[in-house]
Amino acid sequence: MAASAPADLLSQIRVNGAVPRHVAIIMDGNGRWARDRMLPRPLGHRSGMKSVREVVEGAIEVGLEVLSLFAFSQENWQRPAGEVSALMSLLEEYIQREADELDAQGVQVRMLGELERLTPAAAAAVDRVMKQTAHNTKLRLNLFISYGARAEIVRAARLLAAEVAAGSRKPEEIDEVAISQKMFTADCPDPDLLIRTSGEQRISNFLLWQVAYTELYISSVLWPDFRRRELYGAILDYQNRDRRFGRVSA
Ligand code: FPP
Repeated sequence: MAASAPADLLSQIRVNGAVPRHVAIIMDGNGRWARDRMLPRPLGHRSGMKSVREVVEGAIEVGLEVLSLFAFSQENWQRPAGEVSALMSLLEEYIQREADELDAQGVQVRMLGELERLTPAAAAAVDRVMKQTAHNTKLRLNLFISYGARAEIVRAARLLAAEVAAGSRKPEEIDEVAISQKMFTADCPDPDLLIRTSGEQRISNFLLWQVAYTELYISSVLWPDFRRRELYGAILDYQNRDRRFGRVSA
């Protein structure tokens, strides 16, 4: 049977109605995609940039509020120097090539993570695109760079501890809302759907606090091959889930 066209999948999403507000994606499999073609790994990452463009456009069409992409983990700093520098250059290139288009599409770009570790050129590009697109409201695109979820939780704990030490907050005022407000994602709803590509079944230190009740979807497709069809397929699968948040069905 022929696979459904993206436009048909989009129509079905609209018929179903309840669209997720926030979709997060662990973009995995660039290295394997390159290896399968006997290409150097950075070419897999470069090819993955096309998939980023495609899912941003798909997210706008579906009407997501937030799209979160895990682009570079804290652990990724341990990769060979050549691959790290290729990823930093790609980040700059992505911003250079896409900033005006993202702005025109109404996308607000936010880069989240330990940005102080970026190269000065990458940090300047990040700063530029965040300022340029800050006023946009159509879609919020969170790009997680130099990010680790445990480090994010440690950071939140330190921020709250500092407020307690300064006397501006009491320990008993620290609750789930207070912690959420110290996360990089403070102004976003928690993800409704987390997609991981390339068949791996791990969270890999991504948004640990925020995914407590998120629906997981594992796609066997390698990230450079991920297109609207796969995004829409994941959203359709999500729409058939019974989200109970620990309660019983209605
Ligand atoms: C994981 O694949 C992917 C990454 C570490 C980098 C993700 C980067 C991009 C998609 C391109 C750049 C995007 C922007 C927005 C700048 P992997 O290398 O771990 O793949 P493997 O598991 O097959 O080795």
